[in-house]
Amino acid sequence: MKHCGVKVATEAESTPILREMTLNIERAKKIAQTELSPPARTRIITVSNQKGGVGKTTTAVNLAAALARKGMQVLVIDLDPQGNASTALGVPHHSGVASSFEVLIGEKSMAEAVQPSTEHEGLLCLPATIDLAGAEIDLVGRDGRENILARALQDYIAGREHRLDYVFIDSPPSLGLLTVNALVAATEVMVPIQCEYYALEGVTQLISNIERIKQALNPSLVIRSIILTMFDSRTNLSADVASEVRKYFPSQTLKATIPRSVRISEAPSFGQTAISYDPKNSGSLAYQEAAIELAQQGA
Ligand SMILES: Nc1ncnc2c1ncn2[C@@H]1O[C@H](COP(=O)(O)OP(=O)(O)OP(=O)(O)O)[C@@H](O)[C@H]1O
Ligand SMILES: [Mg+2]
Repeated sequence: MKHCGVKVATEAESTPILREMTLNIERAKKIAQTELSPPARTRIITVSNQKGGVGKTTTAVNLAAALARKGMQVLVIDLDPQGNASTALGVPHHSGVASSFEVLIGEKSMAEAVQPSTEHEGLLCLPATIDLAGAEIDLVGRDGRENILARALQDYIAGREHRLDYVFIDSPPSLGLLTVNALVAATEVMVPIQCEYYALEGVTQLISNIERIKQALNPSLVIRSIILTMFDSRTNLSADVASEVRKYFPSQTLKATIPRSVRISEAPSFGQTAISYDPKNSGSLAYQEAAIELAQQGA
């Protein structure tokens, strides 16, 4: 509304919902205008936290989709028998489909098992089937059992006609042989931390496990990023957890914080990431901003 040439906010314009909509339009514009350069070498990012339900899978698939939308060539490796990343990327993963299980037991090469995702032409997925639940038993007596994924992935990268810019490995909520394989194959680790009670519980243990793997199996492994998930702006608790995490990990914690959002949790049931399901939603915007931050790290 204009009054004497001065723009006066109407009641509707000053409501929180309208303010958020206006802000989100600006955020979407900025995201659209940002161009990303591919990394010098393929970044292999294992998304790990042995605590369950903190947003590992949601983070892996949404960051992967956001980077693919920015022209990057991205592979998601589903290393969780639950197969949630495969579901979110619209990739078939019923028993019998060539998957990460066959790759780990040496029955298939990664090239034979990787599938295109319905999400985006630049996005590929090595799916996980329920067969993976038995993989730890199959692998336990094998020599070099911690390096199987690393070797298979390096062979796949070397044999591809086009380069891969990012690989996200979604790991299960435990520190078994699957997670060890994911950490040995990685060039870096991303830790999602849920803005909830006991958020930091287990993080000390995770750090010491990563340290052990670094010393024994993968000397260059680093926790390069921490992402705050399921942030609820209505609670003091979320803000307290976020500031605690930022205090302990000032350089690793991404500025973009992922809000708790119904749209994020609905997306997988449509075989989609939140980014294609509802790209203008606050949660999707936050994941796109986090992806840009990740890509610009150290640039
Ligand atoms: N930002 C969010 N807002 C609302 N719901 C979310 C958000 N992030 C994740 N969720 C939901 O929380 C649940 C756990 O998320 P997710 O599966 O990504 O966690 P996870 O760490 O991979 O779990 P697991 O340890 O079982 O593998 C899922 O139902 C997911 O849809
Ligand atoms: Mg998961």
